[in-house]
Amino acid sequence: MMRIPLIAAACLLLKTTSAVFADEAYNVDYHYALLGQPQQDTTFFHRPSTNSKASLLYTLSEKGVVGAVNPRDGEIVWRHALAQNVTERSNGFLRAADGQDVVVSGSGSRVAAWTAADGRLAWDMNTDGPVEDVEILELSDKLASAGNKDVLVLSSGDSPAVQRIDGASGTKRWQFKVEGGDLPYQVSASSTEVFVILLHKTMLGYYKIRVVSLDSVDGHKTDEYTLSSDSELATAETILSVGANSASPIIAWTDAAYTTLKVNIIGTKSTSSFNIEKHDDRAVEKISIQAPYHTNSLAHFLVHYETANSHWADVFHINLSKNKIEKAYSLPKVAGKGAFSTSVSDANVYFTRITEDEITTTSSSSHGILGRWKAQGLGIDSGTSEVITPTHAVSELSIKNDAVSAIRTAVSLSTGDWMLLRDGSPVWNRPEALADISSATFATSSAIEELEQELEVEAHSNAVAAYVHRMKRHIEELKYLPRMLMSLPQRFMRGFLGTSSEGGMAKDAFGFHQILACATASGRLIALDAGSPDRVLWNRQATTLQAGKTWRPQLTSQADVLILHQGQGGQQLAFNATNGHLLLAPPPREAATTGPNVQYTMTDDGLEAKRLDVENAGSLWHFTPSSQDRIHSLVPRPVNDPVANIGKVLGDRRVLYKYLNPNVALLATTNDASKTASVYVLDTLSGAILHSTTHTSVDLADPISSIMSENWFAYTLTTSADPRGHLLIVGELFESLIPNDRGSLQSAANFSTLETSPEPFALTATYQIPESVSKLAVTRTKQGITSRHLLAYTPASDGIVSIPYSILDPRRPVNRDPTKDELAEGLVRYAPVIEFDPRWYLNHARSVIGINEVLTSPAFIESTSLVFAYGHDIFGTRVGPSGSFDVLGRDFNKFQMLATVVGLAAATVGVAPLVMRKGVDARWRFT
Ligand SMILES: *[C@@H]1O[C@H](CO)[C@@H](O)[C@H](O)[C@H]1NC(C)=O
Ligand SMILES: *[C@@H]1O[C@H](CO)[C@@H](O)[C@H](O)[C@H]1NC(C)=O
Ligand SMILES: *[C@@H]1O[C@H](CO)[C@@H](O)[C@H](O)[C@H]1NC(C)=O
Ligand SMILES: *[C@@H]1O[C@H](CO)[C@@H](O)[C@H](O)[C@H]1NC(C)=O
Repeated sequence: MMRIPLIAAACLLLKTTSAVFADEAYNVDYHYALLGQPQQDTTFFHRPSTNSKASLLYTLSEKGVVGAVNPRDGEIVWRHALAQNVTERSNGFLRAADGQDVVVSGSGSRVAAWTAADGRLAWDMNTDGPVEDVEILELSDKLASAGNKDVLVLSSGDSPAVQRIDGASGTKRWQFKVEGGDLPYQVSASSTEVFVILLHKTMLGYYKIRVVSLDSVDGHKTDEYTLSSDSELATAETILSVGANSASPIIAWTDAAYTTLKVNIIGTKSTSSFNIEKHDDRAVEKISIQAPYHTNSLAHFLVHYETANSHWADVFHINLSKNKIEKAYSLPKVAGKGAFSTSVSDANVYFTRITEDEITTTSSSSHGILGRWKAQGLGIDSGTSEVITPTHAVSELSIKNDAVSAIRTAVSLSTGDWMLLRDGSPVWNRPEALADISSATFATSSAIEELEQELEVEAHSNAVAAYVHRMKRHIEELKYLPRMLMSLPQRFMRGFLGTSSEGGMAKDAFGFHQILACATASGRLIALDAGSPDRVLWNRQATTLQAGKTWRPQLTSQADVLILHQGQGGQQLAFNATNGHLLLAPPPREAATTGPNVQYTMTDDGLEAKRLDVENAGSLWHFTPSSQDRIHSLVPRPVNDPVANIGKVLGDRRVLYKYLNPNVALLATTNDASKTASVYVLDTLSGAILHSTTHTSVDLADPISSIMSENWFAYTLTTSADPRGHLLIVGELFESLIPNDRGSLQSAANFSTLETSPEPFALTATYQIPESVSKLAVTRTKQGITSRHLLAYTPASDGIVSIPYSILDPRRPVNRDPTKDELAEGLVRYAPVIEFDPRWYLNHARSVIGINEVLTSPAFIESTSLVFAYGHDIFGTRVGPSGSFDVLGRDFNKFQMLATVVGLAAATVGVAPLVMRKGVDARWRFT
């Protein structure tokens, strides 16, 4: 009981300066710089320049992030987010030509060339409509220059067009406007001509394939034809194609039932048909084509067939002199899923097959196997018993004496991981599924949960009972003694050398190793250890989604149980947070709710609140914004928001009472017509408006973010008024502004907000901040004694800033210096501008992109709050807003301390006889 005032005193004594120990930067914090799921067509190995020996792995992910990864360690060499909003999925194109040092991306309506080695922008250009295809023109005509090859861009929209872009400068050489209302589909080139593939929708709803050929030098139409009438079978979904850079571009399609495959060599008018074999009567579910993206390789391609439980492939050869396609050989049917990749070495083409248990390589010319390796990291996962299958892959081979001497394969897995296998053994694994988190929560592990409960029992029983309980617990723990003794020498050494790795989840007395459970849009649950970066605890499939569907569940936790709310129609599921096992029984413990459960629904004219814990409750209250106002957001005060002190102690020992109501929320509305934003503090039980403000000339294109905690709130917005700027407004609610006065609540021991509604007094302050903020959060500690920091994500600089509350305090004196009492309280003179101190940036020098949620959770020790940010990148750290007063820093040297103690003891023992002799001498000396 004495501990709390002591800790409180410690908090006041310690200055709120550095958030972390300097040596903890990059140590207690972790950052996963992610790309997002790589896509099959936009992922490849490529040499960044002609004279470099090693290649990099390039990808444009499904989230529109283009980047290069070092295949040796999986680290990002460079990356750029192409999409405006990195949290939205986008399709894109990424191309590279052999021996060229740029890669060209197309995304949205922008085409950009990046230097392959370091990702600098070489040039970019915008098209009038969405980019539908980008190809590099390999042919050498009189326009072609010696340097970078030209680029073909096909765009759709109101005026669909093909453009030839100068590969050196990004300027347009010519443009061909596509007329006739057909859908632009693909652009390809032979050695002399450019072909535009268009889909022509017939009356019956099917597509015909229309081909327009253009002169490569001036872009004039030279021919136009529609492929034979059979092509009516094509629907947009069953068209498969192979782009321009291949030796002989083809277009292939099937009927909806996948019975016949038709292939046309682009530039010829005939098509070849092949029957699709039926293997044990299972319907083929997916067909894809693999071909080398090299003009000077053999014109061979592979068709990959998949059924629900097996896959196989056929290899075809194109005879360019006869313009004929022949089937060369088949790769046999294998159970389970598989992926194929294509590699080229000296014009020879190789196909690599990745299955759940092995990797095999064949030449495109014959079916003989040139290399076979056991694939690790795929197949049945021992932890979750889930079968991990390859989704797609790219490979790089080294050929010696007609055999594959080494192979590197980057495989996308069904777990959402991107893994590199060298000769079948995993080298690195990037958890790209984490770029797609739709909901996340902190949870405790079972071991910690047990310890917590035991400690709780001891804290709440009388001294004797607690002592007996503790003795029992220690006796129980004796069984771990032998194991502990065995590991003692190691721990001793680590402690001495300062290399201690802080232990794992089981012995986590500080509560740093909490479980971070994340639900991804792809239907998976992934758990991380908040204390050990780079550690994925478990990763499991939680739901099976239909193609193209995404999952937006809500994940919450009750101690060591995760609860997944799947929304309308979806079931509520419970999982064991420690190992991810599905729990059949509903969560055993009741949620520790502290107040009535209120649900909010948006109605046509506003917001309606209903109580969830009272059956058939009618509407509790209804909020109708003024005309044309739109509800922007509603942020309630967090459920577990402990407050240590009900008042603010002033410099002269008087108290200002905080307005502490658990049922408050901050509601923001915007009005597009008048460019205003209004903010209301609501009582969520009565619907009463406790405080409101309206801001005019608000730039509504910029984000508005808000937060409510304790008795204060904060929000940010951008004003277009003069001076234009980003504002942070902080408000604090008090029962009364007169010290030692509780206002109208003085006499009431308890009251109901439904009957009386005492109005709080609000103090607000407005600060100008250097950047717009898209997300606010606040640190949380176990008992709320530690002061708070406001966390802000700044999308323009990709940073997370941790602002001490003392800087934001609305009670800072305005236009005068603080009095002695105010100084004693730590208040400084109000200044309208807050510059972000470089030490406030939790991310340090790293750029954390695409954050849309910041979670905080208290550690077990009072000083520390855990922070976890997600959206695209993952960032986590620990923050000690009042300094880490209850933990020793990493630089605390146990060896030095022990040496000092031993030294002092030795000195004491050594010096004692001397001192004694001196004492005796002194007494016997006569002067
Ligand atoms: C980005 O897109 C996501 C999903 O559509 C949306 O929830 C989010 O608010 C958007 N962010 C911005 C800054 O527009
Ligand atoms: C293409 O066909 C011709 C005639 O049948 C044949 O002589 C030639 O070898 C074939 N070319 C290839 C690459 O198979
Ligand atoms: C979760 O799993 C752990 C380890 O297997 C076990 O000790 C714990 O009791 C489980 N928790 C629940 C709630 O089932
Ligand atoms: C406090 O609330 C309880 C329960 O509603 C009521 O019985 C009691 O009389 C109240 N006390 C005072 C002092 O109003």
